[in-house]
Amino acid sequence: MVVARRLPAAGLELLAEHFEVDAGDSAFERAELLRRVPGAAAIVADPTVPVDAELLDAAGPDLKVVANFAVGYDNIDLDACRRRGVVATNTPDVLTNATAELTLALMLAAARRVGEAERVLRRGDWTGWEPGQLLGRELSGATVGIIGLGRIGTRVAELLQGFRVRLLYTSRHAHPDSIWAEARLGLERVTLAELVEQADFVTLHAPLTAETRHLVDAELLDRFKPGAVLVNTARGGLVDARALADALRSGRLAAAGLDVFEHEPDVEPELTALEQVVLLPHLGSATATARDGMARLAAENVIAVVAGKPPLTPVSA
Ligand code: 8YV
Repeated sequence: MVVARRLPAAGLELLAEHFEVDAGDSAFERAELLRRVPGAAAIVADPTVPVDAELLDAAGPDLKVVANFAVGYDNIDLDACRRRGVVATNTPDVLTNATAELTLALMLAAARRVGEAERVLRRGDWTGWEPGQLLGRELSGATVGIIGLGRIGTRVAELLQGFRVRLLYTSRHAHPDSIWAEARLGLERVTLAELVEQADFVTLHAPLTAETRHLVDAELLDRFKPGAVLVNTARGGLVDARALADALRSGRLAAAGLDVFEHEPDVEPELTALEQVVLLPHLGSATATARDGMARLAAENVIAVVAGKPPLTPVSA
């Protein structure tokens, strides 16, 4: 038996071919989930579902796999899984392009004041075309700093090629892949401080870990190039939202495009109060192509592990 959060049919149908599936109409509340997991061989979770010792113990010794319906897995206590011999998997690759495209959408929307301009029009405050109205800035020719050159960061660099930007990046490790991407995409590896001091656009593509929580804090924001634009399609916890709101209010940063928040679905009121922030409700992977691919991959991981085979995409600690 597997217990799943609501998944697109592509994944649920695949699971149902192999198992008795207990899936709610929507994501289960915590207490409900704890009641349903005992005896489950698999749990399909996502970043809104904390997978901790309590949940794993409630499931009991039959539990073999926790399959996250997401590439990020900051909701999973990997040590607790390891100690219980439970495999954890995620859904990389299938959402890379969707998330990278949304990153570009936010860069352009924030820089060209798309949200603010639409609100002017919808309020009926547009009194006619004016040469100086709602001027923004162009992405072409700018310096873009990518924090975290994984799959999504690399795809963002690819999509930016047509804009003829200067591309900087930071990465914790010098992966052989990053070195190949550097040559192929004209990327320059710099320190975090150098990146924020030089970039007109800074985009976040790092996982949320104890080390990266509030990576963008007041101290780092003070080093940003004046007038820069910050985009976050990774995890809200990477940014100290209050410090970001201060930096936007003071004019240090011109704009921000945010798809993720530290305490979703709550959005810091300091941010919603600011016209120059484009806010989206965590839509990075929200295309049918990506979500179907994620659902299928999560299901395939469950099927493989329960059959005693290696998972397709285990998470790496
Ligand atoms: C999902 C995400 O929309 O993959 C991730 O890490 O944050 C998004 O793709 C979210 O996880 C809901 O499942």
